[in-house]
Amino acid sequence: MKSPIAEPLLRWYASRQRSLPWRARPRPYAVWVAEIMAQQTRLESMLPYYRRWMRRFPTIRSLAEADEQAVLAAWEGLGYYSRARNLRRAAQIVLREHGGRLPRSLESLQSLPGIGAYTAGAIASLSFGLDAPAVDGNAIRVLARLFDVDAPAGSSAAQKRFWQLAAEHLPPGRAAEYNQALMDLGASLCSPRRPRCNECPLAEVCQARELGIQELRPVRAARKAAPLRRMAAAVLRRGAQVLVARRPAEGLLGGLWEFPNLELQDGLPAEAQLRAGLGLASPPAHGLGEFTHAYSHFRVELAAFLYAEDAAPPGVSPDAVWVDIAELGELPMGKLDRGVANALRDALE
Ligand code: ADE
Repeated sequence: MKSPIAEPLLRWYASRQRSLPWRARPRPYAVWVAEIMAQQTRLESMLPYYRRWMRRFPTIRSLAEADEQAVLAAWEGLGYYSRARNLRRAAQIVLREHGGRLPRSLESLQSLPGIGAYTAGAIASLSFGLDAPAVDGNAIRVLARLFDVDAPAGSSAAQKRFWQLAAEHLPPGRAAEYNQALMDLGASLCSPRRPRCNECPLAEVCQARELGIQELRPVRAARKAAPLRRMAAAVLRRGAQVLVARRPAEGLLGGLWEFPNLELQDGLPAEAQLRAGLGLASPPAHGLGEFTHAYSHFRVELAAFLYAEDAAPPGVSPDAVWVDIAELGELPMGKLDRGVANALRDALE
């Protein structure tokens, strides 16, 4: 069966595609980095990071041989740091087990850390010319509307349907353009609110448009409000130095640096709990402010305080080290701790 969507979609893409740095010469490593970076991050925001990364780590080998700290530092600001750690780990595997080149099959691509169905499909189609679909959130919106998929988009039934539809309509030999056209269409005309159907090359065949329910597709399951965690952090200062510790390698913000902190219980004021929890002798010199950040499954509200201390107090991890305040900028940190470090710099100016 010939697809009614492939031809008009490819024609539209030929003149309207976005100019993206890895499209002109989609070498596997470049596509891999770009597709990992673009997950959970808007393309416009990730492009400066992408360019800097490719200068810093131009090859799989350079990434595999880089220090983890340098890799995390280059990722700082993009969030979801396991993506950076997995890129480096996968680069090491590729160097060791695949002679430094990404493997060409979907299956072996997906066996690498951090590479799922989407990234494998993107690398296979963009770089290796395989007829593999790659369905991201933008493509899902387009497909859910074109084919009026009414199951909640996150459900396994809907996911299966999106991938099946994308595969069914994929024009042989043109997967790279087709996949990226679906994504570009979702990123431009087929927007979540008020899609510009009058400009859409697929308006004639779009079932949601026919029914006038574009904004009701894809179906989103109701989201629960993310729980709030209240925390406090202490900047312990000894002359020109402060105490910081590295988080465990695995898990949230793994391998990043942070100021000593604790999660607050309801009741007592934040500073009193912090002082008691860390075993600090004297009250703070300053409040450094309140910082907030939303992670994928919870939000954090963090109050930070500056103390003058001569020695590490008993409640602080024995792995904590004194570092020069001037060098904090070089240590990779999450959003909240970077905010605290910046507030410290402002307070000392
Ligand atoms: N989003 C992430 N990767 C993309 C690509 N290659 N084309 C369009 N949108 C994208």
